[in-house]
Amino acid sequence: MGSPYPPGPRWPAAVQSVLFQRHRARFLPAVARRYGDVFSLKVPSYADHLVVFNRPEHVKEIFAADPRDLHAGEGNQILGPVMGEHSVLLTDETEHARARRLLMPAFNGASPRGYRDLVASIARAEVDQWNANIELRALDRMNALTLEVIMLVVFGVTDPYTRDQLAPRLHRMVDISPIVLLGWVFPSLGRIGPWKRFCDNQNEIDALLYTEIDRRRDAADLSRRTDVLSRLLQAGYQSDDAPLTDAELRDQLVTLLLAGHETTAAALAWTLHELARHPDIQHRAYLAAHDNDDRYLEAVLKESMRLHPVIASTARKLTRDQVIGGWHLPAGTVVNTSILLAHQRPDGFPNANAYRPDRFLGSEVAPNTWLPFGGGVRRCIGAGFSLMEGAAILREILTRYTLTPSAGNGPERGRVRNITNVPRRGARIAITPRHSVTQGQSTDPLRVS
Ligand code: HEM
Repeated sequence: MGSPYPPGPRWPAAVQSVLFQRHRARFLPAVARRYGDVFSLKVPSYADHLVVFNRPEHVKEIFAADPRDLHAGEGNQILGPVMGEHSVLLTDETEHARARRLLMPAFNGASPRGYRDLVASIARAEVDQWNANIELRALDRMNALTLEVIMLVVFGVTDPYTRDQLAPRLHRMVDISPIVLLGWVFPSLGRIGPWKRFCDNQNEIDALLYTEIDRRRDAADLSRRTDVLSRLLQAGYQSDDAPLTDAELRDQLVTLLLAGHETTAAALAWTLHELARHPDIQHRAYLAAHDNDDRYLEAVLKESMRLHPVIASTARKLTRDQVIGGWHLPAGTVVNTSILLAHQRPDGFPNANAYRPDRFLGSEVAPNTWLPFGGGVRRCIGAGFSLMEGAAILREILTRYTLTPSAGNGPERGRVRNITNVPRRGARIAITPRHSVTQGQSTDPLRVS
């Protein structure tokens, strides 16, 4: 009997692994050109058999499947030592569904809008520190800014001492190297070198978090507080689910931090990079920012995430033999929804290499073609929040500055940092204050006369 898997490259698994993890932006389109819309890869230890899909009908089938048949948590176990066993990213079925029920209200519906003023004031404080007429590495500034947002909005940490203690430690935790992650297979490594430093840092973060959880539980104003931690402490008392234990709270908080901070920073860095290179689009975004119109700002963010997907794919592991996309795949196969390939499909996105936010203003973008936040029961919990956050931050920047690419900086290629796709050179841009525009004579390259 032949192999049940769709065809794919025959190179050694180690070579495929490196190409998939590190050079996917060029590797995956090349494989798709050679083997078509569905192909197999060998990417140990992530997946001995990885089947990559990107057609809208296949994406729909995978995202709509029964979560008992397709496990996402199982595929993320490598993050266990950092995020903890209870993390919503690592669990499946009943435990996962309960975690989502408890977490979602803090992120859903009216909640993102409720955080908007707080995000705007944090962004204003950051932008206030920028010097006029300087060059910025947008990625660094956006990382600092989104970390501050997460600490205030998610942890609700307002006490300056705790914030000063937490910020550098969280920064070190997010900067985890792949070597440290892979080394967790050998727990005894925790006593030496980078693994020991990582463990010490993590223990210090845990101590700070548990103290904060204790303090918050007893806070007199708990029911009036709007941060995610305070909402989580009350969730469960208002539903049929058992409330989260302290250990569960710790795991979910660390997960939200790691999943929600670098991703939004990368999306914003790509957006600022593209806006600096497209003065006409920047001008429209400026007008939208000026008029408090989020629709165009969100379209700009969405198009940046389309052209530069922050996360390249989602993964689900088959718990039983089943048919997906017409292929009879055995239990244990990992099915991969390639966000990167889906966003480049000419049938979904005509002129796919062009940066054109207008696509997102009408009904041009069909379902199951734009997938930066994944889908189905595992769709990103922070999707609405990050769009609100991105728009609020763009508004503060664009109403104060015009952006131009810094000297000699052409279009940037991506590189994989942790698991996110960031601009290789950090998206360096020059900023010029808008208030230097005087009537009739302007330093603003975007000014229309
Ligand atoms: C531009 C920003 C972001 C991008 C591109 C992004 C992308 C993603 C993707 C692709 C997934 C996997 C979905 C799947 O498997 O179908 C995911 C899951 C998740 N994201 Fe985000 N994310 C972003 C921001 C955030 C924020 C701000 C938070 C929270 C503060 C967050 C929290 C989560 C959580 C908790 C999950 C796990 C959901 C589950 O497994 O049920 N993300 N995100």
